[in-house]
Amino acid sequence: MIRPIIAGNWKMNKTIAEAVGFAEGLKAALKTPPAREVIVAPPFTALQAVAQAFRGSAVRLAAQNLHEAPKGAFTGEISAGMLQEAGCTHVIIGHSERRTLFGETDDRINRKLRAALDASLTPIFCIGELLQEREAGETEAVIERQLKGGLNNFTSGDIGHLVVAYEPVWAIGTGKTASPGQAQEVHRFIRRWTADRYGKETSAELAILYGGSVTPKNIAELLQQPDINGALVGGASLDIDSFVQMIGC
Ligand code: 13P
Repeated sequence: MIRPIIAGNWKMNKTIAEAVGFAEGLKAALKTPPAREVIVAPPFTALQAVAQAFRGSAVRLAAQNLHEAPKGAFTGEISAGMLQEAGCTHVIIGHSERRTLFGETDDRINRKLRAALDASLTPIFCIGELLQEREAGETEAVIERQLKGGLNNFTSGDIGHLVVAYEPVWAIGTGKTASPGQAQEVHRFIRRWTADRYGKETSAELAILYGGSVTPKNIAELLQQPDINGALVGGASLDIDSFVQMIGC
């Protein structure tokens, strides 16, 4: 049985002070350990301060990206080891904004996933199709290509240490969420694809999150789908009341 995960991706939002204020508020709101795993992904600058604020709570910390090299002349980049030192347990990799705005390829994402695993960080591996790909009936082909490329040379042991997030690009920040049925269809495809490659057991234990305009209003119905094991929330995770509502729904 997979423990459902509610993860908040703050993207490029919140100052350090705002992030710490949110973390303290969340810690106070979650007096008893939640039934769901809760993860927050602040911007790099706030990671360490937020890690300190969450100390003693069950909330886990994720970064939003990393560089695949352990160290070196990569101006502006951050390694997996640095993230771990800052208090991260997770890292989002391959987000569609990284793919479309920053040119990340499946091959690059594959190296980033490997670097995360090597540093004992749990990657939240994001995949998802564009609107024109969905409309052209290519959703499954795109998802398969992203899975194949991102997970190239991975063993079932590796798969056991990562989380997949299906985020249809047309649903991100648009208020246009996939219907629970549309999301479940793709999640089932991911479940079957991973079962064929890595075995039924590994696939059954793989957490597959849905992301794209998730709100307190639509989260319950999405989480009722058999292959949806949690949510990766953007905009609605920035407000503490709405985030706490989604954790408890
Ligand atoms: P929204 O929830 O704002 O649509 O963003 C989803 C997302 O990109 C989470 O990673």
